[in-house]
Amino acid sequence: MKLWAGRFSKETDSRVNDFNSSISFDARMYREDIRGSIAHATMLGEQGILTTEESAQIREGLKGILADIESGTLSFDPEAEDIHMFIEAELTKRVGDAGKRLHTARSRNDQVALDVRLYLREAIAEVRSQVVSLLQELYKQAGKYKTTIMPGYTHLQRAQPITFGHHLLAYAQMFMRDDSRLHDCAVRMNECPLGSGALAGTTHPINRARTAELLGFSAPTANSLDGVADRDACIEFLSALSMVMMHLSRFSEEIILWCSSEFKFVELDDAYATGSSIMPQKKNPDVAELVRGKTGRVYGDLMGLLTVMKGLPLAYNKDMQEDKEAVFDAVDTAKLCLTTFAPMLATMRVLPDHMRKAASSGFINATDCADYLAKKGIPFRDAYKITGQLVAHCLAENKTLETLSLAEFKQYSPIFEEDVYHAIALDTCVNGRVSAGGPGLSSVEVQLQALHTFLKERSQS
Ligand code: ARG
Repeated sequence: MKLWAGRFSKETDSRVNDFNSSISFDARMYREDIRGSIAHATMLGEQGILTTEESAQIREGLKGILADIESGTLSFDPEAEDIHMFIEAELTKRVGDAGKRLHTARSRNDQVALDVRLYLREAIAEVRSQVVSLLQELYKQAGKYKTTIMPGYTHLQRAQPITFGHHLLAYAQMFMRDDSRLHDCAVRMNECPLGSGALAGTTHPINRARTAELLGFSAPTANSLDGVADRDACIEFLSALSMVMMHLSRFSEEIILWCSSEFKFVELDDAYATGSSIMPQKKNPDVAELVRGKTGRVYGDLMGLLTVMKGLPLAYNKDMQEDKEAVFDAVDTAKLCLTTFAPMLATMRVLPDHMRKAASSGFINATDCADYLAKKGIPFRDAYKITGQLVAHCLAENKTLETLSLAEFKQYSPIFEEDVYHAIALDTCVNGRVSAGGPGLSSVEVQLQALHTFLKERSQS
């Protein structure tokens, strides 16, 4: 028998029951639901809306339910419409009439809005701590490889020399921004919707500030319609997760390239690679590929929920029940990816000799050659042109800039002197790039220090 049976003259069709039911997925919010109900019952007791005994009975009953779910002695009833109905019904079974009073001055609409926010709060904290673990790994490796020269690319063409440490620190920037985005989202969502009622508040003398305080929110939400109709926090979170995944996916793509024989910049640990069922020589970067692939799921979760919300009139509509599967799927996916990606990175073997070899060809020092002339007073555009002619000469002669004779250099500009060889040497090219944020060692040290400070602050918060 449904809770609302009084109004109806027929049983719900079993297909509608199945269709409508959300307990198969929202059961995972049982802790949040019970926590919210305990706060609500506490406040109802304090306000004299329930007697002290009723409030205490309810709270004890709810704690018992929580303990029994956790110990496995109470299992979810798939017939219950959702986790809220299940817990309320179980409470009434246990404490009788007091249980029936729990829902005074509350609706499932503000209840579910609350549960989702409590769930998000935890999820955000968990994802942030995984992002920080990844940043710790990046810090370690960036320090280790701060002088390991590799080619930097644009258009996937060798462009200018950088170091592997500098490259890793670029990812550190992305993940630090991710952490800050997740933090922003947590701060903005930290308002308590409980007490919004179904949509229009309540005539009972509730104290919303008190429930907000009991549940660790900074304030109650300001408008009861918005309190129940808003899913911005879910969408912001999905969007922040999509960006985490986008960064992981770009990183994965590079790792996939780097472990190909064409690059051979890194080799994955055997424990983080897979073989082929037919080609005995293969060592495949499946983990990185799956991270790249799963990024699509998280984007899908974001797009799905944005689409669910775009046409909904205020306030609550059942469409919004679709929010949870999107959020749960995205959290599970992002956490799984972070869990697997970080140790893959930690165990990956870096091959500095191959990186350096790749940086030694492809005229990666051509800009430095032009800069050499520019520093000697040639306008940069002219210096650029002279260097372009030198590159063409090298290509025709199958040479590199550093193997040209001084006489050959001088054919293109009399300004060239013996010191050009030092100016275009790979190490000079990298070490000289000490502009703020650059790959030169002193600039990388500044970036490492900033990351260190960030990690220290995060470990204290
Ligand atoms: N299971 C519902 C959801 O997830 C709970 C809220 C139901 N509210 C209602 N008015 N039917 O959205």
